[in-house]
Amino acid sequence: MDLLPQGIKGSKTQMAYNHKKVRQSLLQSFFLSLFVAFNVFLCYQLLFTTSFFHLPFFCKQDIKINNPKHNLSQTPCSSLTNNTICCDRTNYHSDICFMIGDVRTHSPSSSIFLYSSSNDTNLIPQEEKIKPYTRKWEGPIMVHIDELHLRTIHSPNASLPCDVHHNVPALFFSAGGYTGNVFHAFNNGLLPLYITSHHLQRQLVLVVLQYRHWWFTKYQEILAQLSEYTPIDFSNDSRIHCFPSAIVGLHFHGTLAVNPTELSDNKSITDFHCMLDKAYKSKVEQIPSQNLKERSSKPPKLVIVSRDGTRVIENEAKVSHLAEEIGFDVEVLKPGNMMAMERIYRSLSSCDVMMGVHGAALTHFLFMRPGSSMFIQIVPLGIEQLAWSCFGEAAIRMGLRYEEYRILPRESSLYWMYGGDDPVVKDPNGTKAKGWEMTKEVYLEGQNVTLDLGRLKKTLVGALQYVVSKRRY
Ligand SMILES: *[C@@H]1O[C@H](CO)[C@@H](O)[C@H](O)[C@H]1NC(C)=O
Ligand SMILES: *[C@@H]1O[C@H](CO)[C@@H](O)[C@H](O)[C@H]1NC(C)=O
Ligand SMILES: *[C@@H]1O[C@H](CO)[C@@H](O)[C@H](O)[C@H]1NC(C)=O
Ligand SMILES: *[C@@H]1O[C@H](CO)[C@@H](O)[C@H](O)[C@H]1NC(C)=O
Ligand SMILES: *[C@@H]1O[C@H](CO)[C@@H](O)[C@H](O)[C@H]1NC(C)=O
Ligand SMILES: *[C@@H]1O[C@H](CO)[C@@H](O)[C@H](O)[C@H]1NC(C)=O
Ligand SMILES: *[C@@H]1O[C@H](CO)[C@@H](O)[C@H](O)[C@H]1NC(C)=O
Ligand SMILES: *[C@@H]1O[C@H](CO)[C@@H](O)[C@H](O)[C@H]1NC(C)=O
Repeated sequence: MDLLPQGIKGSKTQMAYNHKKVRQSLLQSFFLSLFVAFNVFLCYQLLFTTSFFHLPFFCKQDIKINNPKHNLSQTPCSSLTNNTICCDRTNYHSDICFMIGDVRTHSPSSSIFLYSSSNDTNLIPQEEKIKPYTRKWEGPIMVHIDELHLRTIHSPNASLPCDVHHNVPALFFSAGGYTGNVFHAFNNGLLPLYITSHHLQRQLVLVVLQYRHWWFTKYQEILAQLSEYTPIDFSNDSRIHCFPSAIVGLHFHGTLAVNPTELSDNKSITDFHCMLDKAYKSKVEQIPSQNLKERSSKPPKLVIVSRDGTRVIENEAKVSHLAEEIGFDVEVLKPGNMMAMERIYRSLSSCDVMMGVHGAALTHFLFMRPGSSMFIQIVPLGIEQLAWSCFGEAAIRMGLRYEEYRILPRESSLYWMYGGDDPVVKDPNGTKAKGWEMTKEVYLEGQNVTLDLGRLKKTLVGALQYVVSKRRY
């Protein structure tokens, strides 16, 4: 059944991407054939740049799997049959339940029923509770997540006439929790949504708990790639929606991760990147600066991701000037909450290097081109592990060249505030051992950086050489 979770690896499909070098002539004929091949989708950006000098990274359209063979024998819901509810609670990050049969929603009681209209059915009485959010381990945030009740029910016991019939499965999840933060919006929302639903090929209805209008508006292009149906605002829609099946909750594979070994179609973070490209490319194609001839003659582009308040680059203007002297076309981007995603996509999908101090906005590295671009994370004192685990690992998995610029004590505002001999500066590990509050208040919220231009120059020259080398082959 299509609904079944992405379990242990089963059948393999064609590889979704390839970043081996391809001869120029092959490339050119490939690009020509593109115009007649409707079923092939290329990351737009590379269509224009690779034909001249970039590595040929490209995205292909999803291959439709008609009979996905998921080998679920090792997962708790492997024997999922009609008219049953099955919950897999084995994952540390999230619970997920599956319902197959006549699924009916009842929003006033926060319930989803598996309904049976006949008396002689052997519908087993079942009841499950679930909070469909991917931070199960974090009690303080789970308190704020709405709970759903999943129950089997017979018609003599209740009358639940369908107000709206759907002939595709429903996917229930919460858009609450930390969703206002872009890192969490992707890490705990959009990526798990992709992992849980991409095999359904947009043939599902998203049923959203703690629906927020701004959230839907902000991510509408991405959500449209996941489902071709209008999402349902569960708590504000008391109509009874009927579905042939439902998935309640989301799978989670790790920080900004899509783990191919857990997916029967071998999808990875690179496929997620391609999905983002598809979501925004039509909007970006109209931008004149993306014109192929114009771009090929331009210097490499560096985007400096700028912050306000904390973890600020205090000498940002000088840093920007230095980068220009080295040979970059510099854009300073401040991706605030109000900035449209397509605007951010426009800047980052066309850049060669993105550089910024550790923070949620760096999540937008997901928009960068794998195989030919570079991400420099500036790491303030005391947050080396966070920097690596939030973005470093994920950026490398996506195929970006990743580098850390770890600041020296004298580049930190903490050095000037506490003095070089203070444990805060001399021994961040020891200081952090006092608790998360220290990390948060001192290192994350109480620290700015002033970059040493001499040191930074080496990093930027290296970056320029790297991106130029990717243009010459
Ligand atoms: C599914 O996995 C189990 C356990 O690893 C294995 O014994 C079985 O042969 C697999 N089935 C298929 C169809 O691959
Ligand atoms: C599952 O059960 C529902 C409702 O009881 C029924 O309409 C449907 O045909 C059944 N599907 C299968 C595959 O048995
Ligand atoms: C179901 O049960 C009710 C009462 O127990 C009875 O009135 C009704 O005729 C039954 N329907 C069927 C289809 O057996
Ligand atoms: C329906 O109601 C009867 C009597 O109250 C109860 O025994 C039975 O378990 C109920 N069935 C379901 C599916 O709720
Ligand atoms: C609830 O839904 C109605 C109708 O779709 C809509 O007009 C209204 O703004 C929604 N309310 C909230 C709080 O989202
Ligand atoms: C799965 O995809 C990865 C790249 O995402 C590739 O390196 C690997 O060879 C693929 N494995 C299989 C079995 O297709
Ligand atoms: C701080 O701790 C991390 C692991 O917890 C370790 O990798 C790192 O080397 C430590 N740093 C220092 C300066 O001891
Ligand atoms: C960091 O810089 C911002 C903006 O200039 C300033 O408001 C803030 O007070 C600075 N923080 C520290 C700890 O110096």
